Amino acid sequence: MERFFSRRARTIRRSVLRELLKFTQRPEVISFAGGTPDPETFPKDELSRIAAEEIARNYAKCLQYSTTEGDTKLREVLLKLFAGEGIEATLDEIIITTASQQGLDLVAKTFIDPGDVVYMELPSYIGAIQAFRAFQAELVGVPLEEDGMDLEALRERIRADKREGRRPKFIYVIPDFQNPTGVCWSREKRLKLLEIASEEDLLVVEDAPYRPLRFRGEHIPSLKALDEEGRVVFLFTLSKILVPGLRVAALVGDREIVSKVVAVKQAADLCTPALTQALAYRFLAESDIAGHIETIRAHYRRKRDAMIEALERHMPEGVRWTRPDGGLFLWVALPEGADTERMFPKALERKVAYVIGTPFFVDGSGRNTMRLSFAIATEEQIEEGIRRLSEVVREELAAVSAAAGL
Ligand SMILES: Cc1ncc(COP(=O)(O)O)c(C=O)c1O
Repeated sequence: MERFFSRRARTIRRSVLRELLKFTQRPEVISFAGGTPDPETFPKDELSRIAAEEIARNYAKCLQYSTTEGDTKLREVLLKLFAGEGIEATLDEIIITTASQQGLDLVAKTFIDPGDVVYMELPSYIGAIQAFRAFQAELVGVPLEEDGMDLEALRERIRADKREGRRPKFIYVIPDFQNPTGVCWSREKRLKLLEIASEEDLLVVEDAPYRPLRFRGEHIPSLKALDEEGRVVFLFTLSKILVPGLRVAALVGDREIVSKVVAVKQAADLCTPALTQALAYRFLAESDIAGHIETIRAHYRRKRDAMIEALERHMPEGVRWTRPDGGLFLWVALPEGADTERMFPKALERKVAYVIGTPFFVDGSGRNTMRLSFAIATEEQIEEGIRRLSEVVREELAAVSAAAGL
């Protein structure tokens, strides 16, 4: 059947990650592999009530098509939420998307011609890599440091690309508690990134699913709030603060951009489901959303602390990890020479799972790294799972030393 596939479809591969995740879903496996939020945080009773009421009373609207831009009341309530964050936007500067993964796909369709250069953090979110690759972007990874991207490296690379006749298009970043590392960008780096984007005349795509999930430390303004030139396209999803199952998110940007994205979305799905938009709207308008987010934060903070404590207790010398102030993930780097993919079957034998690092690196590096999610496992499972994982890591490090003849 391959002969029928388009050139584009031929370049698209199923995510390695999804394939690996299949092995991790056996009940006896303690999994740090998933990227999903904890169902314990889902406000199921409230959503059940709202869903029953909406369908009974408003079926003519909520079971109908929506507009491509999305429900006006939902957009208004989201704009109010964003205004509280210093993001000033009007109704023609926001579109509802079928969650942020669609936002990324629409961004790709709207901006990328084959060969256009997209800069992203090294490592970065696999779903974005897939979305941009599908449109034959040339993806350039820029090393991520503790406080954000290495911006000198970014600037040099953009200039070199321009000199060599390539076409830089946009910079994609996840400044708050990034997937996969949990890193949060400093204010200085956010400002500097905007300066570079302005000097080099590039767009910035800011993906902010974990932004509200800060457990500690000071609030840092989003790039969109700092943006004075309309260069930032802001993606925000309800997946991590409400539920992923609604598939509701928003894209905020310059009105000309949003107008084009509306046209592009029409061909994709006509509209995001009216029903899930209605549920999202009612939840945001009627519930104590701030209180709900506070409960979620406390929930993940406890688990994050449990994971850091377990890592400190069990991991051997030479292993490093991030200490995120928010989000769902932390990032572990083993000493050079270790290989988390080689280690993976051994981890599964011990009934513990993680995500290997390489698929997050557009340049294929990161063999010694892995992502751990603290979202789903209980605190007891976190302690036991990290204990098991540290045994596998010790074996891997012993094998590396033996191979090096040490
Ligand atoms: C950085 C990032 N962007 C986008 C998404 C997609 O989220 P959704 O499509 O559920 O809104 C995710 C999901 O894990 C993510 O981590």
